[in-house]
Amino acid sequence: GAIGKDGYRHYMEKELHEHPVVIGQTLRRFVNPVTHKIELPDMPFDLKTLKRGIITACGSAFYAGVIGRYWLEEVARLPIDLDVASEMRYRNPPFDKGGMGLLVSQSGETADTLAALRALKQAGQNIISVLNNEHSSMARESDLVLGMDAGVEIAVASTKAFTAQLTVLACLTLVMGQERGTITSEYADECLTALLDLPSRVAEILQMQEQIQKMAHIISQVQSVIYLGRGIMFPVAMEGALKLKEISYIHADAYAAGEMKHGPIALIDNTVPVISLLPSGSLFEKTLSNLQEAKARGGRILVFTDAKGAERVKGIAEQIVILPTVHSFVTPPLYTVPVQMLAYEAALLKGTDVDQPRNLAKSVTVE
Ligand code: G6P
Repeated sequence: GAIGKDGYRHYMEKELHEHPVVIGQTLRRFVNPVTHKIELPDMPFDLKTLKRGIITACGSAFYAGVIGRYWLEEVARLPIDLDVASEMRYRNPPFDKGGMGLLVSQSGETADTLAALRALKQAGQNIISVLNNEHSSMARESDLVLGMDAGVEIAVASTKAFTAQLTVLACLTLVMGQERGTITSEYADECLTALLDLPSRVAEILQMQEQIQKMAHIISQVQSVIYLGRGIMFPVAMEGALKLKEISYIHADAYAAGEMKHGPIALIDNTVPVISLLPSGSLFEKTLSNLQEAKARGGRILVFTDAKGAERVKGIAEQIVILPTVHSFVTPPLYTVPVQMLAYEAALLKGTDVDQPRNLAKSVTVE
């Protein structure tokens, strides 16, 4: 039968609240309950000797792919080329046969991504697709489908499919890292434990609606917002900015924190808030100093961080949302949830058509 909103105001709100379940279900697909090891289907190439991969996708799925690149390069030491699907083909990069072509798509029907898949196949790449719809055109044309258990996603702006994609990419990364001998089994176990714990941590964030509404009040009154992230938080910042413009129509852009000083800082005054995704860790201090520069120019600083980070940032931030402290490997899916919630709350305040934003389609089947 028809899928209802289960008492939520919008499909997007309902789907946001499905993050914990979807992450948990997707993990159950890949984690053997007896051995507690991640098990993936047979790969169309040898993980040990694989030399190179390319990741391509569109929209939010592309940002999931960017996070996948950070993981695969850092953890599995696999060089990854990356581009949006609508550019990858025209750039016409050179390929050695037998590489990995990795596509990410909720629908499996996005025309640009499907065309990129065909071009990669033509170039002799082995095609792995990370898909929510396992009966799609992309599924049929892939060498291997890594599915997820996000269920049907109805709101045009992707939410739960994004964290499910990240869950799959995280599993792929840990398996590759172990096969390639780039991580110890202790590290892999630590990361898996953090992944298995993620549904509970995400559920805590879903209870922080009031604080996120407070931040939404600030940004719903401005014309333009800057999101900042460094390292693997940069693609999460890009996802946050995309989500905000898609459904609230507030202009937003994401920058790598270190790039602020090379241009975007010229925009900063008290009308352009800066939202920073700032888990404590090795990149914290440098990003903090970027925020201090923005603050010194009259910028309003809004921060998502953890308890330790909050102590350091409280002197300059107008608002801080304190997220659960987690293993650094799982910060991307964790920090995605509040930025998607923020976009939703801002859209509510703007009174837009949240589930069906103007000019957008759930699945874009033209190139
Ligand atoms: C559209 C949707 C986005 C989605 C993108 C890619 O633009 O509005 O939410 O991320 O397509 O869709 P896909 O189905 O390939 O993930």
